[in-house]
Amino acid sequence: MLEALQRRAHQFTAARLKLPQLRLSDRHGHALIHQVRANGWTFLSYGALYDLYARVRAVEERNLPGVLVEAGTARGGSAIVMAYAKAASRPLQVYDAFGMIPPPSDRDGQDAHDRYREIVEGRAKGVGQADYYGYDADLLAAVQANFQQAGIDLAAAHVGLVKGLYAETLRIDAPVALAHLDCDWYDSVITCLTQIVPNLVPGGWLVVDDYFDWSGCRRAVDDYFGGKRQDFNFVIRSRLHIQRRG
Ligand SMILES: C[S@@+](CC[C@H](N)C(=O)[O-])C[C@H]1O[C@@H](n2cnc3c(N)ncnc32)[C@H](O)[C@@H]1O
Repeated sequence: MLEALQRRAHQFTAARLKLPQLRLSDRHGHALIHQVRANGWTFLSYGALYDLYARVRAVEERNLPGVLVEAGTARGGSAIVMAYAKAASRPLQVYDAFGMIPPPSDRDGQDAHDRYREIVEGRAKGVGQADYYGYDADLLAAVQANFQQAGIDLAAAHVGLVKGLYAETLRIDAPVALAHLDCDWYDSVITCLTQIVPNLVPGGWLVVDDYFDWSGCRRAVDDYFGGKRQDFNFVIRSRLHIQRRG
């Protein structure tokens, strides 16, 4: 369904690289994004982090109702940027295994299965000097420490870290203003879409990592939005952003 978007993504590469630097006038925000990258707390590019920051700020500026959600946080980098960009009073719920990523399924392609083999065989690398997050003995504690080092108090900022597999933990029954989905495999992404999208407020956003990177994510998004295309805007920034119309 979204093949045309995929083709356009390649055409817009140069524009995508230039866009983010122009938008952010917040010096502290710049510094935080640099800190997140320099410490290896994220797999996201600078462009993706700036886009995520800007999308959260736009939600605040429009005063959209609803909570923020992140599904897939690893070392916490993208969640830290979301927590910084949002109003302190707006809850951010962060869902992750905070351990090893679960295996892909037969709905994922060879790319995911090759990557998973690398992970379980102990060959996966982290970002920069950091070890691969899944090998951390207590990833939840590491993420809590990263928030603290970034100057964000989890309780004061209304950030909840929910440990476990989405099939067991992800039950969304409140309006959602924006959700960041960064969880790689088909089953994970389809579980998130099924739980989150019915709660997405008019004008609310999904920011989907991996649509252009992992076959299972692409397939899950295409499957889920197959008959719903008319109700959503699909926008390519550094990654795929989807907005509920209204
Ligand atoms: C690519 S990492 C997230 C990267 C992060 N957003 C960043 O800024 O670097 C994907 C994360 O999704 C989590 N994940 C994927 N599927 C999951 C599932 N079904 N349940 C819980 N966590 C899952 C993994 O454990 C991992 O932490």
